[in-house]
Amino acid sequence: MAYVMGIDVGTSATKTAIFQDNGNMVSSSVAKYELSQPCPGWAEQNPEDWWNATVGSIRQAIADAALLGVRPHDIEAIGLSGQMHGAVCLDAAGQVIRPAIIWCDQRSDAQCNWMRKHLGETNITKWTGNPPLPNLTATKLLWLRDKEPFNYDRIAHVLLPKDYIRWMLTGDYATDVSDASGTLLLDVRNRQWSSAMLESLDIPLNWLPTVFESTEVVGHITHNAASSTGIIEGTPVVAGAGDQAASAIGSGVVKPGVVSCTIGTSGVVFASTEGMCLDSLGRLHSFCHAVPDMWHVMGVTQAAGGSLQWFRRTLSPCEEEVARATGEDVYDYLSREAETVPPGCDGLVFLPYLMGERTPHLDPFARGAFIGLTSRHKRAHLVRAIMEGVTYSMRDCLQLIEELGISVDRVLVSGGGSRSPLWRQMHADVFGREVAVVASAEGAAFGAALLACVGVGIYSTVQDACRSTVQLADVSKPCDADQKVYDQVYAIYSSLYSKLSDSMHALAISEKASGMSKGS
Ligand code: XUL
Repeated sequence: MAYVMGIDVGTSATKTAIFQDNGNMVSSSVAKYELSQPCPGWAEQNPEDWWNATVGSIRQAIADAALLGVRPHDIEAIGLSGQMHGAVCLDAAGQVIRPAIIWCDQRSDAQCNWMRKHLGETNITKWTGNPPLPNLTATKLLWLRDKEPFNYDRIAHVLLPKDYIRWMLTGDYATDVSDASGTLLLDVRNRQWSSAMLESLDIPLNWLPTVFESTEVVGHITHNAASSTGIIEGTPVVAGAGDQAASAIGSGVVKPGVVSCTIGTSGVVFASTEGMCLDSLGRLHSFCHAVPDMWHVMGVTQAAGGSLQWFRRTLSPCEEEVARATGEDVYDYLSREAETVPPGCDGLVFLPYLMGERTPHLDPFARGAFIGLTSRHKRAHLVRAIMEGVTYSMRDCLQLIEELGISVDRVLVSGGGSRSPLWRQMHADVFGREVAVVASAEGAAFGAALLACVGVGIYSTVQDACRSTVQLADVSKPCDADQKVYDQVYAIYSSLYSKLSDSMHALAISEKASGMSKGS
């Protein structure tokens, strides 16, 4: 029996899990960290926090596996996955220059406009497959160039979050095609850095890590990393994948027709394609898949689980207490509370634009809203409206994928939100089609471990690995009556953004002005 390890450097925590080669999980451990939002629209994290969490979660996963007789020597390979699009900047000595600007940071809108004006959106899309958005790494580098030249001038290496962890584990500056796609610096069609884009932005190629296919072994655990983590020195590490591609692999989304819907902090609807497929308005990302010779499109809801996290943090102190006292997960508690309210939420609608929105609006200044609030509404309505609003946003993504002519034969849900039976049923009703839930709850860490299996020859292809390991747990079928209610509310939901966007933008400007004047 062979064993592999998957590591996922997420937004709220790093997860490390050890699996048997048949996909059974042996142990899993999570270590959390904070997100810093020093100014409106900003989102930063310390790469050192990721590293400490990685070390902690690896040590715990190894200790738990040992109780079942699995030793570090039994781990044949490691796969990495992580939050995409972040900019981790290192100096020539390999030291972190400043906190990483991460995927949901919206500060670089002016730099996107600069790119459109000086490079032309058509050229950018031709070179990279995607339009400029504040989420994407290149725009964050331009912000540093404009606003922190003292830091920009020190840059010697730019890494994505999981690739910083790779650098700490193996000493290699490397990345994979799926994660590199989200930098806006990759020629996605040809799976290599875009020289046209780099030259236009005056970004030196030697700042960037070497790009590999996700299944390739890229390096080995160093002596120092082995002493810190307990992994055996020399254990191979594959290139791995951005969290969305890794999670898609963990759900078996490796052939056309199968679409995954992942509810993590962000929400993503993801479809594999055999060639590169472009949405002319750039509302869906077109990226390389973590499967060699495959690409994918994906629509992103910025704050999916993130909207519920916000509610929990700001409006659920009592529920947190009760959950702590009873040992129950606070989200299970909130989901059961939402079940007490009927579909359609008695006329309450939530727009989940708490961190701006990508698909379909591409608007960093979109803002969240509850619409239709009356004195009859209770807390349970707010919770359910959040879940419904996020699901409508996922329907927006799914519709755009279908409009591109991509067939959707089967929808698989995964991620933290898929643990809620209510949310799964809501997806079936709002999409008007069956949705199946993936049995493994380890998502991107599982996908990364499958890539590791392929890297060391345990399986010959990613498709083989998925066929032998990915299992589905439960299928939710749409209920006609509820589907009708959701269709009606979705029509209202869809009309709201255009009616409110001017006000959202005005509010975003005043938020920015007051945030900056307080010097935050
Ligand atoms: C995908 C995206 C997020 C992050 C964090 O485009 O921005 O899903 O990868 O999970």
